[in-house]
Amino acid sequence: MEPSPSLTGHSFEAYRQRRLSLIERMTRGGGGVAVIPTSPERARNRDTHYPYRADSYFQYLTGFTEPEAVLVMVVGGADTSPQSMLFCREKNLEREIWDGFRHGPGGAREVFGLDAAYAVGELDAKLAELLADQPALWFSIGHDSGWDRRIAAALNTVRAESRTGKRAPAMIRDVRAELDAMRRVKDATELAIMRRAADISTAAHIRAMRFVAPGRFEYEVEAELLHEFRRQGCEYPAYTSIVAGGANACVLHYVGNDKVLCEGDLLLIDAGGELNGYASDITRCFPVSGRFSGPQADVYDMVLDAQAAAIAAVRPGATFADPHEAALKVLAQGMIDLKLLPGSADAVIESESYKRFFMHRTSHWLGKDVHDAGEYKDGELWVPLAPGMVLTIEPGCYIRPAEDVPEAFWNIGVRIEDDAVVTAAGCEIITAAAPKKIADIEALMRDGRGG
Ligand code: GLY
Ligand code: MN
Ligand code: MN
Repeated sequence: MEPSPSLTGHSFEAYRQRRLSLIERMTRGGGGVAVIPTSPERARNRDTHYPYRADSYFQYLTGFTEPEAVLVMVVGGADTSPQSMLFCREKNLEREIWDGFRHGPGGAREVFGLDAAYAVGELDAKLAELLADQPALWFSIGHDSGWDRRIAAALNTVRAESRTGKRAPAMIRDVRAELDAMRRVKDATELAIMRRAADISTAAHIRAMRFVAPGRFEYEVEAELLHEFRRQGCEYPAYTSIVAGGANACVLHYVGNDKVLCEGDLLLIDAGGELNGYASDITRCFPVSGRFSGPQADVYDMVLDAQAAAIAAVRPGATFADPHEAALKVLAQGMIDLKLLPGSADAVIESESYKRFFMHRTSHWLGKDVHDAGEYKDGELWVPLAPGMVLTIEPGCYIRPAEDVPEAFWNIGVRIEDDAVVTAAGCEIITAAAPKKIADIEALMRDGRGG
């Protein structure tokens, strides 16, 4: 039996629409030939590979997840309508017995709705033919040296035939620049997958809250997260889960996850599942014992208030920077109130003294990549938010021991992170199901653990 091409059964029409959008953009740019390869397989050790993950741009345009595949789009040229063609592995019974199903060009063309499909071994010769007399090659140079060489070889093959009257493209355009602009606004298919990825990931955080107790190890909590991601169909975690007890929460990219959890400490978990190639990105912080101490609650509520201010700033027409600025105002005043910093809120923001405790920004785009594609500025100006954009809202406060810092706050690290979809009226927090009010967390840990 052939496997389903999609775990969620979403329509391949969405991919066709995206290819049509790219065709429109290439047409406006004078046309040419776009080459969009998927990711290579990577060896982990000897003959074992890392789990395979198709390239985000390639997957965005095709939905095809087999390795060794390339999408070529020909837009313009003499009397031809635009063509989307896939180059992929041929069917091979021997390899399919060992490694699993391959669509092969014929199957792939049909299932994925492409105009044509060929064996990947034909690519180099075919590419040289397709590039002849085209105004531009649309390719993203510099990401993979192997592909850079292969593309240069194809161009040189055309150039070598100049005496037969063939001309090589005079221009190379960055196809990823067009795709980045498209990927910044999610379509309905993408949003449906992202909502599901968010639901699974919130369930994983709730599972972790129920599980945590003094004496358990960070990796045991990580295992609970991974169990829930996989149990509900996520292919992978979207990034390495951060499970950071106590002082480890002050290490922003802590991924060791190998320490024991202690009574009296907070636990910071930054983890999200990846579903059908779309990331979720959630951070929750909660007490190992189930009850926040006074100083922990003070820092936590400051960050939660900052997050609420940032979320209130997400709406169409606001800029990408507005949520960050809203969060900063609350954090700056909060740090003064807690005696972490001297001065006025304006002075703290102006001098950036807050960066000692909050050293990252409040948001990034979220989509296929956890730090998703798409520019943050158009020229000098921050990008205006528009419906369909998805961004994280993740203020934090990380307090390392220091003489000029009240000892009660030492080693408290808090980040609270949700995923916001910009809507016509404001935003929808698709990760809201994971509790974050102190009372809700404490109730869940008390009742959910039956203690
Ligand atoms: N989990 C990565 C981030 O929050 O940016
Ligand atoms: Mn994030
Ligand atoms: Mn995160």
